[in-house]
Amino acid sequence: MSRKRDGQINIVLQHQTRSQSESKSQLHFTENSPFKHIDLEFSSFVAMNKLKQTIKEIYATIVINQKRKEVGLACTKQVLHMLFKGNPGTGKTTVARKLAKIYFDMNLLSKGHFIEAERADLVGEYIGQTAQKTRALIQKAMGGILFIDEAYSLARGGEKDFGKEAIDTLVKHMEDNHNDFVLILAGYPYEMERFLTLNPGLQSRFPFILDFKDYEVDQLMDIARQMASEREYELTKEAERELRSHLLKKTQETTRNFSNARYVRNIIEHGIRMHAVRLLCKDNYVTEDLIKLTGQDLQVNHHYNQR
Ligand SMILES: Nc1ncnc2c1ncn2[C@@H]1O[C@H](COP(=O)(O)OP(=O)(O)O)[C@@H](O)[C@H]1O
Ligand SMILES: [Mg+2]
Repeated sequence: MSRKRDGQINIVLQHQTRSQSESKSQLHFTENSPFKHIDLEFSSFVAMNKLKQTIKEIYATIVINQKRKEVGLACTKQVLHMLFKGNPGTGKTTVARKLAKIYFDMNLLSKGHFIEAERADLVGEYIGQTAQKTRALIQKAMGGILFIDEAYSLARGGEKDFGKEAIDTLVKHMEDNHNDFVLILAGYPYEMERFLTLNPGLQSRFPFILDFKDYEVDQLMDIARQMASEREYELTKEAERELRSHLLKKTQETTRNFSNARYVRNIIEHGIRMHAVRLLCKDNYVTEDLIKLTGQDLQVNHHYNQR
């Protein structure tokens, strides 16, 4: 389902349909626990409290706006375009994909599909081609979320670069009130800051700028446990100890290339393969052995030089 670097576009269609009888104000609005479904959608995400809070604020604003409208009070249109700043593996893509579903459920988007793109998908090679490519992409994203990763690369070549044409085209369409799409630009914090400085008009067009912080060791450990248990595995105490001390070392290195939760996912997935090989070479094992990932399986040192 995911593509990269080959110029194709990743489209994930949500498999829901909305019945005609569902109206905006009815949807998921239960007076006692109005945020229950948001908590549910984000239950598999460790930490990220600020982000969860922001989504709840958007949700509350929309529902209350709807209530205000019903009694004839003024209500402002909520602009939902967002900027995600964060290092690799901090959950930017996963959250954006989840938002497509939530916004669809909230009736803010008509289709709720998710399109992931990068510079090459927007920028052409000759004059005029960029605007055309960008418009076509926006067209595809109508009703859903257009997520542009490493968005700062659109500004990389300065004034003469066609990236600027892509930015201008995006901005033009973002402003169009009829447009039923949400634009999310993502990238490394420093580069995104710089991108905003180079394009001062942009900041005000993104009411939501979210910081995806690097995870602390405890959070990475929670993520590891969560990833294992999602796959119906468990880490032994010894595996946890080894992983923890390995992550402590990795996070203390000052390389900004550490890929956070993705790094942990790679260790768990590799560990599951090593576990399979180990068990297959044994003649007898019990159910417990099928579940437990040991320190030997995780082979943390094997990963040391990876990001
Ligand atoms: N808070 C979190 N809780 C659980 N898993 C997470 C969390 N953040 C990231 N992940 C997982 O880490 C991996 C990398 O996340 P991703 O969204 O691709 O990061 P980014 O787009 O910022 O590089 C994914 O498998 C994702 O599910
Ligand atoms: Mg990503």
